[in-house]
Amino acid sequence: MSVAARKLYWITAAVFLMIVFLSYHKSTAPSSPPDSRTAHNDINKSQNYDDNDGDYTSGDGDNLYTGDNKDVKPPAGNKPADGSNYPTSPPPTTAGTNTQPNTSGKYDTLVVIPSSWTQMQNRQWVRETVFGIRDNLEPCKKDDGNIIYKFYIYGRSTWGKSTIHSSEYNQALVRDLYGEFMEFNDNYFTNATVPATEKHAIWGDALDWAVNTYIPTNKIQVNKVLIFDSTAIVNLPKMEEAVKASASPNGYLHIWGSDSTPFAAMISFNAAEQILEHREELKVDHPTKDIVSAASTFYAEKPATFKITRATGQLWASNVELVAADTAVVGQVYQLEDWRRISEKLTIKPTPACAVDQNRKKNVALLTSSYIYVDMCMAEASLPSAENKRIYADKHGYDFVARAAEFAQEEHRGRRLVWGKIGAIQKVLPHYEWLFWMDMDAIVADLDKDVREIIDFAEKANVAKGIKEEVSLIVARPKRDKMLNAGVMLIKNTEWSRAFFAEVQTRAPWYLKSSYEQAAIWEVMNEPKWSSGVYIYDGDDHTMNTFPKLYEKGNFVIHFAPAGCPSVPVLAALAKIKAGESAYGIGTE
Ligand SMILES: *[C@@H]1O[C@H](CO)[C@@H](O)[C@H](O)[C@H]1NC(C)=O
Ligand SMILES: *[C@@H]1O[C@H](CO)[C@@H](O)[C@H](O)[C@H]1NC(C)=O
Ligand SMILES: *[C@@H]1O[C@H](CO)[C@@H](O)[C@H](O)[C@H]1NC(C)=O
Repeated sequence: MSVAARKLYWITAAVFLMIVFLSYHKSTAPSSPPDSRTAHNDINKSQNYDDNDGDYTSGDGDNLYTGDNKDVKPPAGNKPADGSNYPTSPPPTTAGTNTQPNTSGKYDTLVVIPSSWTQMQNRQWVRETVFGIRDNLEPCKKDDGNIIYKFYIYGRSTWGKSTIHSSEYNQALVRDLYGEFMEFNDNYFTNATVPATEKHAIWGDALDWAVNTYIPTNKIQVNKVLIFDSTAIVNLPKMEEAVKASASPNGYLHIWGSDSTPFAAMISFNAAEQILEHREELKVDHPTKDIVSAASTFYAEKPATFKITRATGQLWASNVELVAADTAVVGQVYQLEDWRRISEKLTIKPTPACAVDQNRKKNVALLTSSYIYVDMCMAEASLPSAENKRIYADKHGYDFVARAAEFAQEEHRGRRLVWGKIGAIQKVLPHYEWLFWMDMDAIVADLDKDVREIIDFAEKANVAKGIKEEVSLIVARPKRDKMLNAGVMLIKNTEWSRAFFAEVQTRAPWYLKSSYEQAAIWEVMNEPKWSSGVYIYDGDDHTMNTFPKLYEKGNFVIHFAPAGCPSVPVLAALAKIKAGESAYGIGTE
């Protein structure tokens, strides 16, 4: 650049910045409508489920989609600028072997883990210790032929709808529970509750569900079923050894436990079938026993074809010195501090429950929020909404990642919780090539549409304009809005994106001020330094993000972003989409 050209460049940039500044100044001046959400970080309001749509995409009545400041300059997203400070990341490399996952539908072991709905922490310890799953940043996409596991979660009727709203404690747990469901998708959830005195009837129900429902529904075959409570620390490789050593070709029931209480049982599939066939008889003969203990006595009297072995499992006695290092199972561990000490002592080698996905770094993850605000507005719709996104991701071979923790932590940072979106993006970005962010109230209406088409179009468009910087952020600005809608975004894993979102995080004036992180993104992306990494579908209500009133058949995503709670239209639209029908007209009343 010549000196003159450089001067011109900086003058242009300065003028542009001033315009951006003035437009914000105007929009946040006292004359603009007061926003009740700016005062404090209260998370109790129904409009709070979402984010920043209130001012700019208000879904109510005549004001629909009228921004109050239409004279703002169009974004500079497509203008070339000096982006050379942000070299693109090197192409992702793949390491390791290229072995194909075993998708034969045959598994060696189905692991069923009965767990009370409140035991979220225990389940995470089990995931980590037994299966090596530390988080959901790279969620399981394909099970391999070795093991497949499910938590059998019970106890729902202890928090009926009325209880949720009358008990803040339970409500907080439910919000976490739903987050867990969305994030890990590794549970079966049952309404059935069992009185504490019949605790081990749960094992009977869990086994019954596994053998008579889960296996046939999913058309899988297993050699054996392993069952243990989510409060048991199990050393799976040790258990496998023990079973191998004592296995009988006719099948087996191998129990670890104290005298009266089993902590874990490995049951050959044929033995499990026989036990379940005689479940009622077992109950009558041994009404006070759990199904596994009952079976071991029942079949001792009426010799079965399979072999019964009892092994010692240790009941946790609150003293790690009493735990033998070669113990296969320690039962009834309720505290994390104990769990840590015991699992350290047992040096358990995790058994991966998942086929490794070598292509993750070259792939897309559909990223969404699994955070339910305290008003519970989206509680009911959250799971179906996540399911819609998961189905979409599966269909195209993409990953589905949901995150709540980054939203929850914003409370401690004194920002509007919706800022958690930026943290979630930063956290998940390194694991993929592209992130496809969707708000919880945005759903995929056209499951066949490949989001890569939207990326390709944006990339080609910028190339055609002579922009050298690669596209790292793709967003849409609705026709009648004055800024992007951050409910649906595409983010590429580049140096540019890392620097961009780090910059967005610094925009303190938007921490508590509407439109929060959305306005911060808009502010940064319009600065000359950043604009060349952005492609904006400008004035486009149909490619990436469509509001219900503008929805036309074939549109990709419907974003229910009204002023009130969008749970009802989201559920209605999802029901239509699931039935293969059009969601036209929903949410437009
Ligand atoms: C939350 O909102 C409800 C309904 O507006 C209100 O009755 C309740 O007092 C609020 N709770 C808090 C903690 O502000
Ligand atoms: C898949 O795993 C099952 C169970 O471990 C095994 O029986 C089967 O042979 C495996 N199939 C392939 C193709 O590796
Ligand atoms: C579980 O409980 C809910 C709420 O009471 C009810 O709507 C639902 O139908 C029940 N599901 C089953 C499978 O019984």
